[in-house]
This record gives sequence, structure tokens and C-alpha cells, in this order.
Amino acid sequence: MHTQNQSIIVSGGSRGLGLHLVSRLLEAGNKVATFARSHTAAMDDLSAKYGDAFYFTPLDAVDAPGVTAFVMEVSDRFGGLDSVVNNAAIGQDQLLMHTDVETIQRITNINIVGPTLLTRAAIKHMMLSGGGNICNISSICGSRGYAGLSVYAGSKGYLDAMMRALAREVGEAGIFINNVAPGFFESEMSSVLRPEQLDTIKRRTPSGSLSNDENIFKVVDLVISGTTNMQGQVVFVDGGITS
Ligand SMILES: NC(=O)c1ccc[n+]([C@@H]2O[C@H](COP(=O)([O-])OP(=O)(O)OC[C@H]3O[C@@H](n4cnc5c(N)ncnc54)[C@H](OP(=O)(O)O)[C@@H]3O)[C@@H](O)[C@H]2O)c1
Repeated sequence: MHTQNQSIIVSGGSRGLGLHLVSRLLEAGNKVATFARSHTAAMDDLSAKYGDAFYFTPLDAVDAPGVTAFVMEVSDRFGGLDSVVNNAAIGQDQLLMHTDVETIQRITNINIVGPTLLTRAAIKHMMLSGGGNICNISSICGSRGYAGLSVYAGSKGYLDAMMRALAREVGEAGIFINNVAPGFFESEMSSVLRPEQLDTIKRRTPSGSLSNDENIFKVVDLVISGTTNMQGQVVFVDGGITS
């Protein structure tokens, strides 16, 4: 483990990759806070196991005052804020011509406005305290094309571009910002892929296998550890499919 004794926010920790990141960071002795729209049983299990080192509250990533208050609350409870992982997002499985306006607005709101609000609130705290680490969970879709994912891909491309600009804005304040871009991995979001689509992706992947939560965690752990001097980069965790 590279990340230890930190105060960390992971958005969307109620299930999937976010839950794995939260659990592994807690195991390593960090204090971890997360939010999602729904309260899952896993949140009660983590509260019972880790007590005050864990904090969950139901919150929508696009609720601007709520996100600002959450960051303040976490900083007060944990005595500061060292790292943020922007993980919460929603997917898409529809050709653009069949995608209604409400869906386009929902994806862009949650996947673009959401992480931007959390990052904005976090960097204010980090600037005052001398630095920190931000890691956005992007996707290979942000830089490679996949039919049926155009709006989602656009939202991940935004995260990559925003991250590079922000690295230049906040680098001097000791804030490191980088993105981790996974290939497809098993979760509720990717459950829309049919088995034959997953087989095709595996066949085209040089490593022969999809990434899993733990592969992605290992890279996130390094990125937010504050030990690398890595700044403004997108790191792909995809078995080489984008190589
Ligand atoms: N799965 C893949 O193949 C894949 C590939 C590349 C990148 N990614 C990226 O990896 C990250 C995690 O994906 P996943 O597959 O683990 O997704 P997931 O299983 O669908 O989990 C998404 C998490 O985000 C939360 N969330 C969604 N909308 C939210 C909102 N408006 N406010 C607060 N929380 C919200 C969800 O909780 P609620 O619904 O209860 O709010 C849930 O906790 C995402 O950024 C995704 O884009 C996934």
C-alpha cells in the first residue's frame, strides 16, 4: 500500500469500483468518506467495522451546496482533506440518435458537473492546507471510440481535458491531479454488455483479460499517494487495448 494515514473522499462508494476503493483504503488505515444517492447495506457494514474512520451520507453529486457542505463536514470530522477520487458516474448504452434530451442532460450533469463541483470544493481546502491529490476515474472511452457511448465518452474526454488545465492552475499550490482510465471491467454499469461483446473485447486485449477492481485500485493507490511527482497525466489500466 502506498496511501496511508490520509483523509480521503471517494465519490460513488456505495457499490462497484467505488466500494472497492473505499474498502481497500480503509483497510490500509486511511479515513475515508463517500456519498451516493442510495444507501446500500455495504455502507452499514463499513460503519460497523471502521467506526469514525468511515463516513457515508446520501448525496447527489450534482447538488452544489450539498457537495460543498460534504467536503466541509469531512474536513472537520477527519481533521483535513488529503485526497479526492472522483469515481461517481453513470453510463450510456444507446446510439446518439435514439438518446433523448433528458438522458443527455443527466449524463453530462452527473459525469461532468458532479466531479467539477467536488474538485472545486476540495481544492479550496487543499490550497489552504498546503496541497493534496485528486484522481478522476476517466475511461478508455475518453480517448477511443465506442458506438453507443458518445455522450458518456464526451464526459470522460472532458474529465481528461479539465484535469490537464487544472494541473496548471493548482500545481504550484502542491495539488497533484491525474486521471486513471480503466478499460471495461465488471460492474452494474458494464452489465449492459452482452457476453459476446465481452469476449470480443477480451480477444482484442493484448493481456487477454479485462481489468478488475483490484488492478484499478493499485494504480489509484499510487496516484493519490503523493509520492510520485506525477502531474496532469492519464494512466490507462486496460490490458493494452488502447496500445
Ligand atoms: N464499468 C466499466 O466498465 C467502466 C470502465 C471504465 C471506466 N468506468 C468508470 O469507473 C467508475 C465506477 O464505475 P462502476 O462501473 O463501478 O459504476 P457503478 O457500479 O454503476 O457505480 C457507480 C457509483 O456512483 C454512484 N453515483 C452514480 N450517480 C451518482 C450521483 N448522481 N450522485 C452520487 N453518486 C452517484 C452510484 O450510486 P447511486 O446510483 O446510488 O447514486 C454508485 O455508487 C465510473 O466513473 C465509470 O465511468 C467504468
